[in-house]
Amino acid sequence: MATDAVTLIVNDHRVMERVFDKLRSGHGDRQRLLDECAARLTAHSHAEEETVYPVLAEIGEQEEAHRGADEHHQAERLLHDLQRMSPKGPDFEDLLEDFVEAVRHHVEEEETVMLPALQEAVPAERLDELGTAFEGVRLRELAVAGLGLRR
Ligand SMILES: [Fe+2]
Ligand SMILES: [Fe+2]
Repeated sequence: MATDAVTLIVNDHRVMERVFDKLRSGHGDRQRLLDECAARLTAHSHAEEETVYPVLAEIGEQEEAHRGADEHHQAERLLHDLQRMSPKGPDFEDLLEDFVEAVRHHVEEEETVMLPALQEAVPAERLDELGTAFEGVRLRELAVAGLGLRR
């Protein structure tokens, strides 16, 4: 299994998008899916902020790293609002679309600007070390959230 930071981050984006798709479909327990979203999003964002974003700042991408962290917080706020709402309420679907769109925009920014810049500037060996560090933080946080056995 690949262990470099870029591959691990991109793979986890796809995992989160599948949870979003389930949420949007309206099938299943939406409250439980929102909790899973929150756990995955927080673990992913914190792992990026602790391991990868500082390296982006090192390679001259400070602004991107700051903007990325702001976008994490914005997505977390939208998700917290959703968790406090009834999924049957009138505003739920609109807010869900706002949340999914905010994350989609952020993921696109990461995958087209930030991660390519990282890949360009950092040797493969360090990308592997960063991947191990990223996954360490992410899995630790998932365990705290009670999703420890789920990758
Ligand atoms: Fe990400
Ligand atoms: Fe991110």
